[in-house]
Amino acid sequence: MVKPSDLIRLPRHVAIIMDGNGRWAKRRAFPRIMGHRQGVKTVRSTVRLCRELNIPVLTLYAFSQENWGRPRAEVSALMDLLYDYLKSELDEMLGNQISLRAIGQIDRLPERVRTCLLDTIERTSSNTAMILNLALSYGGRAEIVGAVRRLAQKCLSGTLNPEDIDEAMFASNLDTAGLPDPDLLIRTSGENRLSNFLLFQSAYSEFYITPVLWPDFDKEELFKALFEYQKRERRFGLTNEQHSESCTAKGF
Ligand code: IPE
Ligand code: IPE
Ligand code: MG
Repeated sequence: MVKPSDLIRLPRHVAIIMDGNGRWAKRRAFPRIMGHRQGVKTVRSTVRLCRELNIPVLTLYAFSQENWGRPRAEVSALMDLLYDYLKSELDEMLGNQISLRAIGQIDRLPERVRTCLLDTIERTSSNTAMILNLALSYGGRAEIVGAVRRLAQKCLSGTLNPEDIDEAMFASNLDTAGLPDPDLLIRTSGENRLSNFLLFQSAYSEFYITPVLWPDFDKEELFKALFEYQKRERRFGLTNEQHSESCTAKGF
């Protein structure tokens, strides 16, 4: 087992598509909700571990826009789990200096959940050690369209010149404004797709896809992902010689 002290050059932002709760339950002939319940336990241990490792930003894809289309009973069970999670984690977030954020169409969440979410965000807002960013009712395309709409409004009202729109300005109109792009994007349960997650922000993220189901994604699995990340050579479009020179210049 690898110890955290062996870990250097960690990603600044880890984003996780937490997939496989349903299959975890199915394999045990449990109802799907049992898989989600187990998944929440993995959320707790993952947040704790990332905090211990001093990873500054952790984004968790907890509920997609498309997930609203699941059976009503499952959606409502997921909302209950989210509510219980927020209630139960507040003290730990406060104690561990974790600041909660959310991306996605929060307005669509049931009122009780939304109020609790906004309250937790507010109460943890001055915490500085780590940002826990939950993607809830989130869709990357809708986020991009929202940013386009905001910028178009400003152009129409004459406060913005279309010529002045650049990538940085565009990024600052996304829900993730102010956060670094994810360095490492993990997907559990083996699916090779983004499922509408962080489409703009993941342009140069390192992808790590594991067959392990989310409820089984323990400390050792997270370490494996982090070690794999450290082995990757991120070239950002340069040749590998240019990349090595730039690393030397930066002292890596
Ligand atoms: C991920 O697990 C949790 C959510 C999408 C809310 P799934 O529920 O998608 O699990 P599988 O893909 O059916 O195994
Ligand atoms: C992606 O998982 C969304 C979340 C993990 C919240 P899905 O299970 O919804 O994705 P698809 O349907 O396999 O693409
Ligand atoms: Mg799934």
